Amino acid sequence: MAEKTFYITTPIYYPSGNPHIGHCYTTVACDSIARYKRMQGYDVKFLTGTDEHGLKIEQKAHENGVTPKEYVDGIVKTFKDLWQYMNISYDQFIRTTDEYHVESVQKIFKELYDKGHIYKGEYSGKYCTPCESFWTDSQLDENGCCPECHRPVTLEKEEAYFFKISPFADRIEKLLTETDYLRPKTRATELVNNFIKVGLEDVCVSRTTFKWGIPVTFDEGHVVYVWIDALSNYISALGYKNGSFDDFEKYWPADVHMVAKDIMRFHAIIWPAMLMALDLPLPKHLAVHGWITFNGEKMSKSLGNVVDPFVLGERYGCDAIRYHILREMALGSDSSFSNEIMINRINSDLANGFGNLVSRTVAMAEKYFGGTLPTDRETAETDAEFIETVLRTAADVDMEMEETRIKNALEIIFRTVDRANKYIDETEPWKLGKNPEKSARLATVLYNLLEAVRIISGLLSPFMPTVMPEVWKQIGATADDVKYENLSRFDVLPKDVTVQRGGILFPRIDVEKEIEELNSIIKLNMEKAQSALSESEKTTEKIELAPEITIDDFAKIEIRVAKVLECEKVKKSDKLLCLQLDDGMGGRQVVSGIAKYYKPEELVGRKIQLIANLKPVKLRGVESNGMICACDTADGGCRVIFVDDDIPVGSKIR
Ligand code: MSP
Repeated sequence: MAEKTFYITTPIYYPSGNPHIGHCYTTVACDSIARYKRMQGYDVKFLTGTDEHGLKIEQKAHENGVTPKEYVDGIVKTFKDLWQYMNISYDQFIRTTDEYHVESVQKIFKELYDKGHIYKGEYSGKYCTPCESFWTDSQLDENGCCPECHRPVTLEKEEAYFFKISPFADRIEKLLTETDYLRPKTRATELVNNFIKVGLEDVCVSRTTFKWGIPVTFDEGHVVYVWIDALSNYISALGYKNGSFDDFEKYWPADVHMVAKDIMRFHAIIWPAMLMALDLPLPKHLAVHGWITFNGEKMSKSLGNVVDPFVLGERYGCDAIRYHILREMALGSDSSFSNEIMINRINSDLANGFGNLVSRTVAMAEKYFGGTLPTDRETAETDAEFIETVLRTAADVDMEMEETRIKNALEIIFRTVDRANKYIDETEPWKLGKNPEKSARLATVLYNLLEAVRIISGLLSPFMPTVMPEVWKQIGATADDVKYENLSRFDVLPKDVTVQRGGILFPRIDVEKEIEELNSIIKLNMEKAQSALSESEKTTEKIELAPEITIDDFAKIEIRVAKVLECEKVKKSDKLLCLQLDDGMGGRQVVSGIAKYYKPEELVGRKIQLIANLKPVKLRGVESNGMICACDTADGGCRVIFVDDDIPVGSKIR
């Protein structure tokens, strides 16, 4: 029988700054899936790597006075160290500067050109350097800025190659709406409405304004657009159009590409179109998750709100970190990272829940039987239902893993952990231990618990691969006992199993003390980030002021304090919020493009600065009488400027 294969990929990361916990999510999630599939007997290929070309890297290298390759080499090493630290079992690490990848991309570009999918023209459009993306006017946000990061775009004109994407629009729409390609499916509507229904425009796929990219072989001066370069990694790593690997037949099409929401568009539209143009089969699934936010904001190095995964791993162990991020993030939604939630989660699920189950079971086997269970048995009515629950776990987890729903899979496993702890309370082994006549019953209870721990730890091992071997040692399980096929069977451990008490698996954390320490680390990071930021701003971004105005010009603008009374999202818009304000003048309604950064309930009751004499406009058909003041943040976010609560509404700001 042919071997079952499974090919899973993470995005390839920009080595433009050190990795943070946000970067870890996709990689840890893919690693867990890869390990789960390996456990199920699949021949797995798990690919990750780095995306090393582009203007941004060229600029960063220049700032640091090194060549782009020297610059990326240093950061790639940090990524690799982190993956090792997080126990990531990738099979291949691709760098887009690797020769085999360059060879493939050049041949892919040439084939697309030869087949007539790519043509030469002139580009004139709005370009966002940080996102490396061109945008059409209709795609820009309300302020004419990049719709992804909301930073200003620049008008660029250059000779360029274009990829004709519109011939594939119908097939792509069907792929997104009629198949299980995109997970979760709810994201398909957004893509179809925002990109396909408005007409897919040809994609500019070459650049002449910088050098750090893969050269187009047949036109000197042109380098391949970073996304064509980057997306091709998924097949160049298999040896597509290069002689370095021979895995294409075996692993393509990919089973799962996992990405975060900001790069979904490239994977849901451009990548399928490229594959269609190359006459290649399409990947089976694109799993899209949200961002890990920190106290409500997207994690960003420049804000300093980044939690260093090395620091966290050092304090709690990499498995606890892996568990926490996997358990918090539901596919499709953002997940908010807070030290408090993390520590409470580690304490409740790992220290009190699973850790306690293992240590109590092993300790009782030692205390009452010197570590080796006697072979006499006495079953009771409560056993059957408990055993059935434990035995059902693997099938339920399988189902969730098939659908890439890791959070749900972990919830199921931890329900079984709770059930096992409840079984201890029901059977009261400490009472049985006092009565020598109950020895067979006690041995049965402890054996059932050890079997539950064996199954639970086996199922947890893809998610927490570092600690589980220690659990197996403690419960006397061999590698065979925790094989996948044995995780839906009972009575696998020998009847007279011998346990061996070990160290505490997950020490309980003192919440208050720990939070205080983590906060001081973050504060230090913020200070460092701030000073680094001002340094780099000095050298790279010159602030360009608008033309001078007089005090009379300024006096024309009325800025007043107002209080948000009500706030709701504007229907059919993911950007706009509609706010009802008490402005001290009878009240008014204002529409503001901040829905991506604030939930309505975060604004109600707050005082803000209102541009009060702005001519009314209609946004998405809703009248807006003025504007609320906000500022862009360095990570592409946006913050409303709030006013102290004791300043009366209507006060004039000057
Ligand atoms: N180089 C491109 C991907 C090319 S794939 C053919 C890229 N790189 S990235 O380094 O900027 O981001 C890699 C992935 O990390 C993206 O999916 C991105 O959304 C994700 N994340 C970055 N910060 C994150 C969080 N705070 N939370 C979750 N994912 C985060 O995009």
